Amino acid sequence: MTGFSTCKLVDLCLIASLVASCAAAITCRSNETHIAWNEKCSNLLRREANAAEATFTSTYRQIRRLTSYQTVNKSSHGDDGDCCYETLQEAQASAYKYLERHIMAFDKPFRSTLGFIDSDNDSSNLPDGLSGGLVGPTIDYALKVKQDYPWADNVRPRSIYYEYVLNYANVNEARSNWRPLLFTELQSLFAVENTTTADSNDIATNAMIKTLPQAVLTLNTHMWTLLAPRHVDSITFVGGSTPLIFDTMSVLSFGYASCTGLAILFVNALRTFGIPARVVGTPAWYQNRSAGNHNWVEVYHEGAWHFMEPSATRTDNPDSIDRDPCERWFCNHERFSDNAQNTTMVYAARLESATSTFYRMAWEWDNQDVPGEDVTAYYQEVCSQC
Ligand SMILES: *[C@@H]1O[C@H](CO)[C@@H](O)[C@H](O)[C@H]1NC(C)=O
Ligand SMILES: *[C@@H]1O[C@H](CO)[C@@H](O)[C@H](O)[C@H]1NC(C)=O
Ligand SMILES: *[C@@H]1O[C@H](CO)[C@@H](O)[C@H](O)[C@H]1NC(C)=O
Ligand SMILES: *[C@@H]1O[C@H](CO)[C@@H](O)[C@H](O)[C@H]1NC(C)=O
Ligand SMILES: *[C@@H]1O[C@H](CO)[C@@H](O)[C@H](O)[C@H]1NC(C)=O
Repeated sequence: MTGFSTCKLVDLCLIASLVASCAAAITCRSNETHIAWNEKCSNLLRREANAAEATFTSTYRQIRRLTSYQTVNKSSHGDDGDCCYETLQEAQASAYKYLERHIMAFDKPFRSTLGFIDSDNDSSNLPDGLSGGLVGPTIDYALKVKQDYPWADNVRPRSIYYEYVLNYANVNEARSNWRPLLFTELQSLFAVENTTTADSNDIATNAMIKTLPQAVLTLNTHMWTLLAPRHVDSITFVGGSTPLIFDTMSVLSFGYASCTGLAILFVNALRTFGIPARVVGTPAWYQNRSAGNHNWVEVYHEGAWHFMEPSATRTDNPDSIDRDPCERWFCNHERFSDNAQNTTMVYAARLESATSTFYRMAWEWDNQDVPGEDVTAYYQEVCSQC
C-alpha cells in the first residue's frame, strides 16, 4: 500500500501518509451547493451522448485467484484528478434525465406514479391529495450521500453511480420509496466523526468509517438487526419466500426473505449510502430448473465488481468484499464446471438495456424486461478453481 500507484485507489487517499501524493484526487468534493464527479467534464458529456450504447463487457484479471472483474471502458475511470462540478440543481436535473431515459418496460405505464412529470406541467401544482412519486426523494438522497460520505463522493465514473446507486429498481420487485426509510433507520451506523466519545460500543466505533469496504461490512454486520420488525430480533433467511415476500417493504415488515429478497434489501441499503451495488444470480444451478436458483450481491469498488452474500443469518461472521471467493458456499468447481451444457449461468441485474441480454428471473421465467449482463465467464473462471 505504498507508492504513487496507490493513488488510483482513491479511498486510500484518506490514509494520512498518502494525502500529499493524492492531493489531486481528493479535491473532487461535493459541498452544500455543488455535486462533484471524479472525472473530466468532457468525458462526462461524451458519455451522456453515448450512454445508450455503453457496454460493460467483463474482462478478467490474469491472476490465479480472481477477486473481482473490471469494466472494459478505460476512459470511464481515468484517475488524472480532474473534476466536473454541477450545481445541486443541475445534478438533480441530470439524475432525473438519466432515470427517465431508463425506465424498465413494465414500469412505463406507471411513469407518473413513479414521479416522472411532464415537463410542461409543474409538479408543485399537483392537485390536493397527490404528491410526486419516488423519483424525487431517490434523487435527493442519492446526491445527499455524496455530500456526506467520502466513499460515495469517490465513486467513479458517474455512469456507475447513476446505474447502481441512483437506481431505485433491481428486478421486478414492487417499486417503493425505500431510500428515505433505510437512510433514517441506518444512518446511526455512520454517525458524525467523534473518536473520543465515551460510549465505545460498535456503533460509536463506526463513526470512524472512511472507506467503501468498511461501510459495506458495517451495513452487513448491523443492518439485519437494526431493520428487524418488532416481533423478531433480526431479519433472517426463510427459503421459498420469493416472490411472495421479496420487495424491500415486505421484507422489512415480515422480517424474513429468501436469497432474492435479502439480496434486494442489501443492495438497496448499500445504494442508500452511496455504494454501487447490484443483484446477481443464477436462475437455475447447472442450467437445471429443478436444481434451484440463487441470488447474491455485487459491489463496485475501484473499477471492479466484487461479489458477496448478505449475512442476515451470519451476523457473527459477516461477509465482506475482500473475502476469498472460494469461501462462498456456492463458489465451487461442481457448480461452475467447464461443461457448456451443464455449467451454471450467472447474470447481473442492470437498469440500462445496452444489449439484448436480460436478467432471467426464476420466478418469472419468460419475462425478458429486466436488463442484465451475462457474467457467467467470471464466475466460471473464479469458482472452477475452488
Ligand atoms: C462548493 O464547491 C464549488 C465547486 O468547487 C465552489 O465553487 C463553491 O464555492 C463551494 N461552496 C462552498 C460553500 O464551499
Ligand atoms: C398538464 O396538465 C394539464 C392539467 O392536468 C393537462 O390538461 C395537460 O394536458 C398537461 N400537459 C401535458 C403536456 O401533459
Ligand atoms: C466527542 O465526544 C465527547 C464525549 O461524548 C464529547 O465530550 C466531545 O465534545 C465530542 N466532540 C465533538 C467534536 O463532537
Ligand atoms: C435436475 O435437478 C434435479 C434435482 O436436483 C435432479 O433430480 C435431476 O436429475 C437434474 N437433471 C439433470 C438433467 O441433471
Ligand atoms: C452436471 O453437473 C453435475 C455436477 O458436476 C453433475 O452431478 C451432473 O450429473 C451433470 N449433469 C449433466 C447432464 O451433465
